[in-house]
Amino acid sequence: MPSTLAPPANDLREEILRLKKKRNAIILAHNYQIGPIQDIADYVGDSLGLAYKARDTDAQVIAFCGVHFMAETAKIINPDKTVVLPDKEAGCSLEQACPGSKLEAFLRENAEKDYYVIAYINCSAHVKALSDVICTSGNAKKIVEAAPAERNILFVPDQNLGAWVMEQTGRPMHLWQGSCYVHVEFTRDSIAKIREEYPDAELIAHPECTYAVRMLADEVCSTEKMVHYARGSKARNLIVATETGMLHRLQKEVPDKNFIPGPTDHCNCAECRYMKMNTLAKLHNCLRDLSPTVEIPEDIRARAEAPILRMLELSK
Ligand code: 13P
Ligand code: SF4
Repeated sequence: MPSTLAPPANDLREEILRLKKKRNAIILAHNYQIGPIQDIADYVGDSLGLAYKARDTDAQVIAFCGVHFMAETAKIINPDKTVVLPDKEAGCSLEQACPGSKLEAFLRENAEKDYYVIAYINCSAHVKALSDVICTSGNAKKIVEAAPAERNILFVPDQNLGAWVMEQTGRPMHLWQGSCYVHVEFTRDSIAKIREEYPDAELIAHPECTYAVRMLADEVCSTEKMVHYARGSKARNLIVATETGMLHRLQKEVPDKNFIPGPTDHCNCAECRYMKMNTLAKLHNCLRDLSPTVEIPEDIRARAEAPILRMLELSK
């Protein structure tokens, strides 16, 4: 029986790299992961970039450092690979806001609407299996624009991303009333306060933020696009209204700028407790033990794969 203890901190990195080689693994990490995980990963990105990387890798094992739905997406499109994640409990408030059984009931009760279901990738495999196409914050506008003109759209589960896409496209949609518990904590007042301190700063905000915050932003975009925007911005100071892990990547890749974590009414930066469940020690253990793995019943997986592949095709 393997020990649950990871090696001392100094040896951890070496051990992770050794295990990665031994397992023929790739380490994928979301932009919200802690710095040491981002620094050891083969690829760091947003949900869309991570889905492409997961689809294209030759590695036999994918060690996914993010939250559960992201690792699940990697498994859906890679049924023959082993997908492990450091902490299986790393969930997402958006995923929880839209249980598959509730969506199924809603679609049944509203069958006459014949909804074309667009699911934000932050949802379970069950919800993906009930959807026509998946989107991420990086391609939502494109995906909605490509939806059949004659169909009613149901957008799940994020009402804020959905509202933002409606503003962008002018396309009416029925919005599921879910939200990200981290991004709704940024408020008009908390942003106004930090802007008093940095009057010349630009504000970049994730589309999961509320309308009041999006209205104040110079740019609303996915986490990956934040890096591109920051690179091209003339501002020296940028306030970042998203999860605090993003600042590590921004500061590393755009070192000449000053990034200020967007504060909420309660604290100076916003942390996703699920993203922060992953640690280097847990990453080490999941590569060592090849556990926990992501497993999905085949009928759900097969149905969930088609809308993901449709998204990847549409957003090329
Ligand atoms: P991105 O795809 O923009 O990285 O967003 C993922 C997410 O969970 C935001 O809270
Ligand atoms: Fe989910 Fe919000 Fe955490 Fe992103 S930041 S993983 S949307 S809870």
